[in-house]
Amino acid sequence: MPQMIAVIDFGSQYTHLIARRLRQLGSRAQVFPPHTDLSKLNDLSGVILSGGPASVYDPKAIQTPKINLKINKPILGICYGYQYLVEIAGGKVSPGKSREYGRETIEIVNGSPLFVGLSKKQKVWLSHGDQVTKLPAGYKVVASSKNASISAFENGRVFGLQFHPEVAHTENGLAILENFVQITGGARNWQLKRQIDNLVGEIEKEVGPEKVLIAVSGGVDSLVAATLMYKAIGNQLYPIFVDSGLLRVGEMEEVKGLFKRLKFANFRFIDASKIFLHNLKDVVDPEKKRKIIGRTFIDVFTQEAEKIGIKKKIRFLAQGTIYPDRIESAASSLQAARIKSHHNVVLPKKIKFKIVEPLKEFYKDEVREIGRELSLPKERLWRHPFPGPGLAVRILGEVTKEKLAILRQADAIFIDELNKARLYDKTWQAIAALFPVKAVGVMGDARTYQYIVSLRAVTSVDGMTADWFKIPHKVLERISGRIVNEVEGVNRVVYDITQKPPATIEYE
Ligand code: XMP
Repeated sequence: MPQMIAVIDFGSQYTHLIARRLRQLGSRAQVFPPHTDLSKLNDLSGVILSGGPASVYDPKAIQTPKINLKINKPILGICYGYQYLVEIAGGKVSPGKSREYGRETIEIVNGSPLFVGLSKKQKVWLSHGDQVTKLPAGYKVVASSKNASISAFENGRVFGLQFHPEVAHTENGLAILENFVQITGGARNWQLKRQIDNLVGEIEKEVGPEKVLIAVSGGVDSLVAATLMYKAIGNQLYPIFVDSGLLRVGEMEEVKGLFKRLKFANFRFIDASKIFLHNLKDVVDPEKKRKIIGRTFIDVFTQEAEKIGIKKKIRFLAQGTIYPDRIESAASSLQAARIKSHHNVVLPKKIKFKIVEPLKEFYKDEVREIGRELSLPKERLWRHPFPGPGLAVRILGEVTKEKLAILRQADAIFIDELNKARLYDKTWQAIAALFPVKAVGVMGDARTYQYIVSLRAVTSVDGMTADWFKIPHKVLERISGRIVNEVEGVNRVVYDITQKPPATIEYE
């Protein structure tokens, strides 16, 4: 096997992203749990220790002896991994005076092979509360910031970064990781294109002669997953599109048209909007909402399989789950904190189907690349992501028919104006959300007491981190004017200017 960089997972939301970036650089990379015996991996060229939610001085944190780092290979610690390296070598980590979240400028203070080719000032992305206050003997500061003062260290072939080079918002993060790949010997042996044949082969092997239902939404992930499945098993595949009633204006018709054009033989459509709305009645808690939606999808699929009289023959349910869905649902490792249960990940225990998820290891940008290789329509691949739970996670609080109608209209205006201003393709995702409170306003000399719509547009590469998009004021003004004038029930529009982290992209 070619040389590999091991990424040790301390539970960060970004662990898998580190491996994904290394693969993007053409390097083989694999994620391992902290108790892995690294000395037993004989194709190892280097190690990266990920970030994580714990504090290194917390007695409940991952215990030191579990990791044998006497491996004589280059090691890079990131965030928690960086603090861990300091702690085990006799340095000091303390709770920071001020927490650092979001973008920060650091200064490179000593030439380090990790920063080769980079200018002195660098914009980086931080997400930490603790900070290194004293380095172990012999360790050299190679970058500093105004708050944490020590942003990076070096000690021979051991390196540490307080910030996250793997996230897209660290401007030269990829260059820093590339430098680390060079330090490990620079092996480049991984290609996404080659993965398509592997994926098709794996599906054929897993499914054999069985029939498979696949849940399609018209979004990128399920479309690419369905196309891969179709390539592997042809007419054994039954793509099913469920109208949950939580969709955008025109979505249902568009998806029906798309699957017709793509000539999937067994495509089926189900209108389940009444069932979803019924099940969501009086539900306010976001996690409860997500679980109910996930369960309702499964119930609908099961009933459909029964209805077409082939229940016994359908053993598999395929889904377009991608890696970030799993990481945020904390399904990827024991250490990661659950941020939200993605509807397709946290499934009911009693489920009768075996699950196939051909894209579960990939990020959205990789999925788009696979889609391009499969010659899928460009405009579909570059559509904004739309979550399975749909508008339900953009209506804060209880979902009702009335609120859905309001939000659908506001959303359509927002997207229409972004398209007109040629800004749609410049954003990763644009969201209209409805707050569960009303505000006072005045329209035509009369008092109004109506809902508030929040608009959110973000830039991102993989959905793991995001920055708010700077929509020109004139465009915002036009959108706000149209929403309050055209959407009955709304008298205020606000624009969300929060990054992820600390916020998430969706509201629930
Ligand atoms: P968050 O809100 O977690 O979203 O920052 C990250 C990306 O994931 C999408 N998302 C989902 N997609 N099922 C999906 O298919 C879900 O349950 C789900 N929740 C969030 C979200 O739209 C964003 O692109």
